[in-house]
Amino acid sequence: MSILTVETRPFDNQKPGTSGLRKKVPHFQQPNYAENFIQAIFDAADVPEGGTLVVGGDGRFFNREVVGTVIRMAAANGFGRVVVGRDGLLSTPAASNLIRQRKAAGGIILSASHNPGGPDGDFGIKYNVANGGPAPEGVTERIYARTRDLSQYRISDAQAPDLSQPGTTRIEAMDVEIVDPVADYAALMETLFDFDAIRAAIAGGLTLRFDAMHAITGPYATEILERRLGAPAGSVVNAVPLEDFGGGHPDPNVVWAAPLVDHLRSANAPAFGAASDGDGDRNMILGKGIVVTPSDSLAILAANAHLAKGYAGGISGIARSMPTSQAADRVAAKLKIGMFETPTGWKFFGNLLDAGKVTICGEESSGTGSDHVREKDGLWAVLLWLNILAVRGMGVADIVHEHWKTYGRNYYQRHDYEEVDKKAAEDLMDSLRGRLASMAGQRFGTLVVSEADDFSYKDPVDGSVSTGQGVRIIFSGGSRIVFRLSGTGTKGATLRVYLERFEANPDKHGLPVEEALKELIDTADAIGEIRKRTGRSEPDVRT
Ligand code: G1P
Ligand code: ZN
Repeated sequence: MSILTVETRPFDNQKPGTSGLRKKVPHFQQPNYAENFIQAIFDAADVPEGGTLVVGGDGRFFNREVVGTVIRMAAANGFGRVVVGRDGLLSTPAASNLIRQRKAAGGIILSASHNPGGPDGDFGIKYNVANGGPAPEGVTERIYARTRDLSQYRISDAQAPDLSQPGTTRIEAMDVEIVDPVADYAALMETLFDFDAIRAAIAGGLTLRFDAMHAITGPYATEILERRLGAPAGSVVNAVPLEDFGGGHPDPNVVWAAPLVDHLRSANAPAFGAASDGDGDRNMILGKGIVVTPSDSLAILAANAHLAKGYAGGISGIARSMPTSQAADRVAAKLKIGMFETPTGWKFFGNLLDAGKVTICGEESSGTGSDHVREKDGLWAVLLWLNILAVRGMGVADIVHEHWKTYGRNYYQRHDYEEVDKKAAEDLMDSLRGRLASMAGQRFGTLVVSEADDFSYKDPVDGSVSTGQGVRIIFSGGSRIVFRLSGTGTKGATLRVYLERFEANPDKHGLPVEEALKELIDTADAIGEIRKRTGRSEPDVRT
């Protein structure tokens, strides 16, 4: 065994996005492409000599190869130990938990989340820091800077170990510990939720279906929901992770999880339905005949969290990303706790969680989580919902309707225009920014603009400032339209348009969402010139 220093040249397209570096698989398969990025992470991360690194991924195509590369490079870059999920598998929240439990210096998570996988699909590499959360912007900027002047990387010439056997082996001076990917995570869940109460509710007839979408949560959900909580075998569907997710997008929304949505609308629907995404950090929550909007789910979880033993003392505060609906703000106001509005991306919650300012966080993009790890956590949300259902003895729809009655309803929808010409999308945003100053007072139908800005955020803990985080147009009465470009796409640009209208009157809580938002949808096109600039008359996805 010896450590090789390999000459390389920088790639100019290794800038981490909202959630690490994501590209198509063939891009990552170019010689030195993954190696360069991994070396840039190690160089930028200030790893303590002999430190521990956690490694794992969502099992998509190319996962196994890159796990092997990370291990061989970690051995050549001064790590004392890597902790790897068996077969190279770790869900994103389970990786975050392991980093914290093992007091690791950081972790490398291989995933492109909900993007499709396979030889022509997407792949991604993300670095998480010692608190278990995604690297903050200062670190990702250092990584990016390093990718641009890298001339060598270090790698052991040893073979990567067999990942299928739990136990510890050695490469160079480094221990390689292969662990059961589920065990520590399941144990953590048992400390947060009342498994006895959930088990009793399931035995008493609380029926459920969890769709793992052939992605990473299959083994986690089978262990927790079926083995530990007693849901009948088969309650977890599409439970075997596949390298191409069975050809689908492992994205838990009404489009990609349509079979689950249809099942929950059918005559033999279970009481509760849920799904998670490729790497297990997102969730979708359904009840008989109802899909719970992620923004509503965040508000409902925050309002009811005290019913679970891990949160019995109450929550300290709530954070949501700026485009997420303001439903949670109403809960925070009622509970008289802090409410924080951050830019899109889980990394902005890390400081607030570390400082104890918030307990629960969420994003409109199906992400909810708490201070138990530093990532969003799909199964955590599922278990908190089950815990609430078990304690309250009510159905999902009844809980949602009661919530709206108490707090009012924030009608909400996100429209995505995918693979739009990049230049056209950037011009659309520039044009909006150029008009912000003159927008206040303008009237669109019955809507009058009260404020318009490009969202910027000053982190209340470290004072760092993030600008250009999305154009907000706020109307008198509190309705909002937000425009931003996705930072996770791998082809062209994705324009996201977020629409929100508050309705206090319970008699008006039963409208179809698109009807309730009609005027805002038309106004978004008028202000954003979406049709004119992108040539699109309809969004590709409405969530
Ligand atoms: C999307 C979501 C965002 C989420 C991110 C990673 O980012 O909108 O909320 O944190 O994926 O899962 P975007 O593509 O909008 O930049
Ligand atoms: Zn994800």
